[in-house]
Amino acid sequence: MTTTLETQLAQIADGLADKGFAIIDHFLSVKEVENILLTDEFKGGKLHFKKAGIGKQLDKQINESIRGDYIQWIDPAIAPNGIQLYLHRINQLIRFLNQELFLSLKEAEVHLTIYPIGAFYKRHLDQFKLSDHRKLSIICYLNFDWQKDEGGQLRLHLPGNFLDVLPMAGRLVCFRSDQVEHEVLPGTRERLSLTGWIVDRSAPI
Ligand code: OGA
Ligand code: MN
Repeated sequence: MTTTLETQLAQIADGLADKGFAIIDHFLSVKEVENILLTDEFKGGKLHFKKAGIGKQLDKQINESIRGDYIQWIDPAIAPNGIQLYLHRINQLIRFLNQELFLSLKEAEVHLTIYPIGAFYKRHLDQFKLSDHRKLSIICYLNFDWQKDEGGQLRLHLPGNFLDVLPMAGRLVCFRSDQVEHEVLPGTRERLSLTGWIVDRSAPI
């Protein structure tokens, strides 16, 4: 493991232990982000993605008033190299956190995400009411030169205040899925990311 990666993993472990979240810049290099953006998945654009949902029981209109993003789940077995590299790094994170924080995290479930212009995701928690297997939320952004006035911030709601995070290329945000409420503010530009959850059990076969 390179020193840089080891330092970054340690920063994530410290952040999670101290405050329940961590923000790490350059988790992916410029080149690594470029390679992901060049994959067929992203090149095809949002037409190849599906509308993200929040539950079968809700109708489309209600869903639309809560979240407006498009997603495509990643199958690690057939993911292109650029995405494999990211998954590999997340697996290193899982091993590190298990060692350092005595957790029993198993694997990550990850999807590609596109927020079209103006799309948002209202304030929520990532852990489902009926299932607590999502332990950590991990989001890596893929947007070069994102400016503050373009919106699209991830707003973390913390005790007594909030923190706005710009979706800058290569930046990883990691937080406790059971604790940190958050939302995505609408942006004036398409917003791309890899969104995932580290779970404490393997997916049912
Ligand atoms: C989510 C989410 C945040 C972001 O997909 O559950 O909250 O910054 N994403 O994209
Ligand atoms: Mn979320």
